[in-house]
Amino acid sequence: MNISVITLFPAVVQPFFTTSIMKRAQEAGKASIKTVDLRDFALDSYGTVDDRPYGGGAGMVLRIEPLHAALNQVDPNHQAHRVMTSPRGVVWNQAKAVEFSHKKDLVIIAGHYEGFDDRITQHIDEEVSIGDYVMTGGELAAAVVVDSVVRLLPGVLKKEDAAAIESFMPVSLDELEKAVGSTPELQNLRNTGGKTMVSLLEYPHFTRPQTYEGHAVPEVLLSGNPKELRVWQLRESYRITKERRPDLLS
Ligand code: ADE
Repeated sequence: MNISVITLFPAVVQPFFTTSIMKRAQEAGKASIKTVDLRDFALDSYGTVDDRPYGGGAGMVLRIEPLHAALNQVDPNHQAHRVMTSPRGVVWNQAKAVEFSHKKDLVIIAGHYEGFDDRITQHIDEEVSIGDYVMTGGELAAAVVVDSVVRLLPGVLKKEDAAAIESFMPVSLDELEKAVGSTPELQNLRNTGGKTMVSLLEYPHFTRPQTYEGHAVPEVLLSGNPKELRVWQLRESYRITKERRPDLLS
């Protein structure tokens, strides 16, 4: 997958893209992550990329010309999926990450300052928010999108990691019901919601020591019985989801 991140602050995201799993994914040829400095497309030798908003108001607005020029250079024929990070975008989640992981080319514009000239939206496919809060810029949001997408690309994570039950990964209602029994929530999902799958939060993990300050690791994890282990994991995932994120079960 080819990813380009257009930003005024490449130095914010570059260390992240060249460390740990993002680095490994690129070395293995699974992803190419390029940062493009918006300042290279400035309007003048002073590096101007923003201006005061028409109609007044606080802050500066990114001008359309540098943004459009950067897009045209990175993706001249609009083959890539083009997104812009912005608090007013669709809220990012695991389903969006899975959707994006099937794209071949992805361009992300990290929005900055108070906003951007709205006419750029005619040249992008969607705006993406990472949550209902406002940051000073979209760089961290771009990093969130890239990380959650790249780790889903085939071969990036080790097989056993990828196959494990994971937060927000779908589990079949049939398998879950076998593990936890037929609860009102599951019946409701099946009958009213017409669902066959449900997304759960992840079960707890433990490593050595076996007992710490009197708290022992659950016996089932030591048993080596894969069927019992799977049932325990599903039960724990269900318990934690019901407790912390009941919205995922409704
Ligand atoms: N830029 C500023 N805040 C943001 C958010 N919550 N999501 C995406 N981009 C942003």
